[in-house]
Formats: sequence, structure tokens, C-alpha cells
Amino acid sequence: MRLLNIESSPRGSGSASIAVAGAFIEAYCQACPWVVVDTLNVWEEMLPDFDQEAIGAKYKGVNREPMDQAEAVIWDKIQELAVRFQQADRIVLGVPMWNFAYPYKLKQLIDLACQRNMLFTYDCIEYGPLLKTPRAFVVYARGGTYAEGSPTPASRFDYQKGYIDFWLKFIGVQEVQTLVVEGTTWLGKEQGKEAIARGQEQARKLAADF
Ligand SMILES: Cc1cc2nc3c(=O)[nH]c(=O)nc-3n(C[C@H](O)[C@H](O)[C@H](O)COP(=O)(O)O)c2cc1C
Repeated sequence: MRLLNIESSPRGSGSASIAVAGAFIEAYCQACPWVVVDTLNVWEEMLPDFDQEAIGAKYKGVNREPMDQAEAVIWDKIQELAVRFQQADRIVLGVPMWNFAYPYKLKQLIDLACQRNMLFTYDCIEYGPLLKTPRAFVVYARGGTYAEGSPTPASRFDYQKGYIDFWLKFIGVQEVQTLVVEGTTWLGKEQGKEAIARGQEQARKLAADF
């Protein structure tokens, strides 16, 4: 049993999304001690830029054409990242809200790993998923709050959750469970700590059933 733990905050021990996902994983490992956790922090993974070489590698890889050395190095990394998704029986993902969406480094991971015939298929008419991962758990951490009726209702301001939930299902995750942790920063230190503690408590409960 392998669990892919994707961290997309650069804030280490100060990160709300890592703290809440960490509580979830700790509880899950107690319930399921044979699980192997593969942690992928998008800021520490030395992800290659998606530049001209990466695009060359992508199209040559898909068309099985010969690559130059720079392209081959990137293609190896792309394949290695895709395998980590393919091997995952469970995915846990921590996502900070950045400018109402998600950090660009997480998108960089998605752009690298999400290749045709690795994580999805496309026959020029339809897309199909290639993963058979039964469940993912996603923590969405937000400095502010997004209640409907407030000046920042999620229906207008949330560009974080929709895409990530969609993408996980697109590649084949059958069930995406989510936990939104709001008020981690903008309301002050004490309230932030309380929001994180409440999130960790909820996460531990959800882990029992994952
Ligand atoms: C670059 C940047 C942009 C941010 N943009 C938003 C935002 O649009 N809305 C919000 O509620 N919080 C925003 N925040 C605050 C973070 O969402 C908050 O600190 C959250 O806890 C981040 O997750 P982390 O603690 O796991 O890093 C931003 C923080 C940074 C560093």
C-alpha cells in the first residue's frame, strides 16, 4: 500500500496545509501501519522548468522520436514523476491558496506529470483516466475566509478547489475527499493556530475511513 503525499507549501513547519495533511497521514498510518508514504514536496523536488526542451521532450516522447540529451534528462524526470502517481494507492495533497488559486509550483508538477498515456488517454475525441486510485484527500489552506454572504464568497473568489478536484478526477482518482481550512493568516496568529488545530482534529477523524 503506497500513499503519495504531495506538499505544495514552501513553509515547512509553519505551513497549515502540511500540518493538517501531516495529522491526517499520522492517523492513517496508525490505522494502516503497512502503508509506505512517498512524500513529494514540489519546492524541494528540483522540478525542471517546462521550457523548450521540456516541450520538445513531451512531443518527441509521445511520438516516440529520438531526443537530444537535454530532452532525455527531462523526459526521465517526467516518467519518474508519473510513476509515483501510478504507484499510489492513495494520494494526500496539501494546497495553499495563493491569489485565490494554488501555487505555481504545484501547476508545474501537474504540467510535468500529467502526460498522455501516463496519467490519461486521448483518442482525439475523448479523454480517459489511467489511474485507478480509489481515494485522494486534499487540504485547502486559506489565509482568509470565504463564507457566502461575506465580502469574499467562495462562489466568486475560489479558484483553488475547482481545478484541483477536477484534475484528480480527470486522471482517475475515484473519490476526492476535501477539507478546507480557512483563516490561517489574515485573522491573526491565535485564530490561525486555532483554525489549524481544528483542521487537524477533523483530518484525524476523516483518516479513520480512508
Ligand atoms: C503568495 C501568496 C498569496 C496568497 N494569496 C492568498 C489569497 O488569495 N487568499 C487567501 O485567503 N490567502 C492567501 N495567502 C495566504 C495563504 O493562503 C495562507 O498563509 C495559507 O495558510 C497558506 O498555506 P500554507 O500555510 O500551507 O503555506 C497567500 C499567501 C501567499 C504566500
